[in-house]
Amino acid sequence: MFLVKTVISSMNKEELDRDKLKKAAEVLRGGGTVAFPTETVYGLGANALDGAAIKKIFQAKGRPSDNPLIVHIGEMSQVHELAAYVSPSAKKLMEAFWPGPITVIVKKGQRIPCEVTAGLDTVGIRMPAHPIALALLKEAKVPVAAPSANTSGKPSPTVADHVIEDLTGRVDMIIDGGNAEVGVESTVIDASGDEAVILRPGAITLEMCREVLGEDQVAMDPGILKESSKDLKPKSPGMKYTHYSPKAHVYVVGGNEEKQIETMKNYILDHPDLKVGIMGTKDILSHIQHDYTIHMGERKELSYMAANLFKALRDFDKMGVDVILAEAVEDREIGFAIMNRLVKAAGHQYL
Ligand code: TXA
Ligand code: MG
Repeated sequence: MFLVKTVISSMNKEELDRDKLKKAAEVLRGGGTVAFPTETVYGLGANALDGAAIKKIFQAKGRPSDNPLIVHIGEMSQVHELAAYVSPSAKKLMEAFWPGPITVIVKKGQRIPCEVTAGLDTVGIRMPAHPIALALLKEAKVPVAAPSANTSGKPSPTVADHVIEDLTGRVDMIIDGGNAEVGVESTVIDASGDEAVILRPGAITLEMCREVLGEDQVAMDPGILKESSKDLKPKSPGMKYTHYSPKAHVYVVGGNEEKQIETMKNYILDHPDLKVGIMGTKDILSHIQHDYTIHMGERKELSYMAANLFKALRDFDKMGVDVILAEAVEDREIGFAIMNRLVKAAGHQYL
């Protein structure tokens, strides 16, 4: 039972409101919870050094307690308060991509409560680029642990309305700062050991990390696009949970363009009793006449699909579709992050 009064505070990222930011920072320092926009998705933040505040995040989201949180910072100097050791590769990644959509995992320092890291000896740190997030973090002066601001298992929120739907009455404040531009969560890269390993793909791609660290210095966790099994356990605890699940049943539609169009048309014909939603690029949808479609931009410009993916999953639920057919895209660059989220939303079911 939650009885928290949720204050909704609207802000313009081009014209920051210092008074509103101060109030939000006070809530964080006082042990409260604040949802705020970042350039990837909205986050639900609390003081990372306050174990009791961290518990409120897990409660509000219904998040399993063995899934660690990312710690957000506003100044480079805070890294050394949080990490016991920062490897040369971790340092290079931070310098190259911060502020920005990448979380760097390093050996954890003593000050971080075990609630944040779910008992691991490492911690993920990120300096976000969104002007509101960055200003709030600087104003708060404490590191802020923040998972995505959705109910656990639902698609991550990319607009404040999604946060309001999921967390009203469960958190102290929600900052409405418009759309999250990237739309998929940050790249998570483990740079605590000898070789850097990407545990979750995002807008900072494998290719970009390799450019900074060297071709043979960055690997991709093999569990990312595959279903986890005894032999293939994802290294990031969060990757094992059901994710991005709309109410409808999701299928990823693979093959070349022609095959995808044919599969989608046949599925609709074969299931007259089902309300079928189709999510795809103009390249596919221009060949299909159907009522329940959501356009995802063009194949040659996948950043639009990334930015609108989670919203589309939520919008299909509002349309009340039974099934969502999602067009598979090439799994390179940002397409890799898109496929990772789609395959998870589909529970690895392909057509
Ligand atoms: O873009 C983002 O990263 C957003 C915004 C708010 O910053 N945050 C976010 O947090 O997506 P969350 O908690 O929804 O996802 C964090 C992921 C989880 O899969 C978690 O298991 C993993 O990062 N993770 C966190 N700390 C880790 C660690 N020390 N070792 C391995 N994986 C870790
Ligand atoms: Mg999440």
